[in-house]
This record gives sequence, C-alpha cells and structure tokens, in this order.
Amino acid sequence: MAVTIGAKAPDFMVNTTRGPISMSEYKGKWVILFSHPADFTPVCTTEFMEFAKRYENFKDLNVELIGLSVDSLQSHIEWLKDIKEKFDVEIPYPVIADINKEVAREYNLIDEKAGNTVRGVFIIDPDQKVRWMIYYPAETGRNIDEILRSLKALQVNWNNKLATPVNWKPGEKGIVPPPSTLEDAYKRINEGNKAWYLKYQGT
Ligand code: BEZ
Repeated sequence: MAVTIGAKAPDFMVNTTRGPISMSEYKGKWVILFSHPADFTPVCTTEFMEFAKRYENFKDLNVELIGLSVDSLQSHIEWLKDIKEKFDVEIPYPVIADINKEVAREYNLIDEKAGNTVRGVFIIDPDQKVRWMIYYPAETGRNIDEILRSLKALQVNWNNKLATPVNWKPGEKGIVPPPSTLEDAYKRINEGNKAWYLKYQGT
C-alpha cells in the first residue's frame, strides 16, 4: 500500500554509505528521507551538496537526513568520493543503496518508465509517522529552504499544537485549532477575533 500522510513510515533494514541502518532505530528523532533518480547526475549533485551544507541546521532541529536511490553501494561511494574531490563537500548523511527497489516500492518512489527513483521527500516525525511528502520531477531540483521551513512548521504543530498559515515563516504567529464548542466560538468573537474560526497565537 502506498505511503500517505499520517501513515506509519514503513520500516526497513538496509545498506548505506554509513553502514547498515533501519528506519525504526530513528524513533524519537525527526527523519527526512529523500530519494534521487541516479548517482553522477548534475541536479542530484547540487542537491546532495546543499543538504550537506545545511546538515548542521537539520541536526540542530533533531533531524536525521537519509538519502536513497536504486544505485549500488559501490556507485554511491564512488560518487560521494568524487563530490569530495571535485567540490570539497563531504556528504555526512547515509545514502541507501536500494538495489532491489524494496524501500522505493514501499515509499512509492519508482519511476516506472525510467526504472529508477523519482525525487521524493518524506518528513517523518519522532513517532515514525509520515507528516509531509513531496515529489519533484527529475529535471527540477528541490528547494532545501522550503523543506527546512516545512519541517519547522511541523515542529510548531508538534510542540505547540498550532497550525501555520499561508506563507508562514519561522517566528511568525501560528493558528489555534478551531473551537470545539459554541461557547468557545462566542468567546473568540468577544476576544476581538474577526472570525470565530481564525485565531492567531505566537509560536
Ligand atoms: C539530474 O539529477 O541532473 C537528473 C537526473 C535524472 C534525469 C534528469 C536530470
């Protein structure tokens, strides 16, 4: 069954460039699992380097990054060595060698026509539920700022039970969940909120 928002993140035991890992060992942390079409491709190279440059930002937010493609471990190692040699960027996060496409199938990441993985991103919460997902076409590089912004919005919801409005940026006010009683609805009007269903609160 395809992964959906709110579903439990499928577990796996896999080989990566940083040794074997399982999804379940990350319980208690946020995880960003992202797939790329193929090693040694230009757009993917820029994304890998940008994720590496922002690695400490993610770490500070209790986030672990995990890359994935259907390329072999040997190919991943050669590519990451090449990135280090040519661009002086060390890739600090594990990259899954999903040669049998088992994880890719579980996370609905297979591009059937190309036979490889699409550009997918999943944000998984500390309870291992999928909270956010996005797919980009092969020709379009991801926006790491937007992934970080979305992660921070999810963490505001996780920590403060607030939703976030359109174009929300970290530091801005969030939105309180709708009232559950008529009394609460009237209370909001009396408090001066323009509409009973829209109440902002600092994050
Ligand atoms: C790239 O990462 O540059 C790429 C990968 C697959 C298809 C097209 C571009």
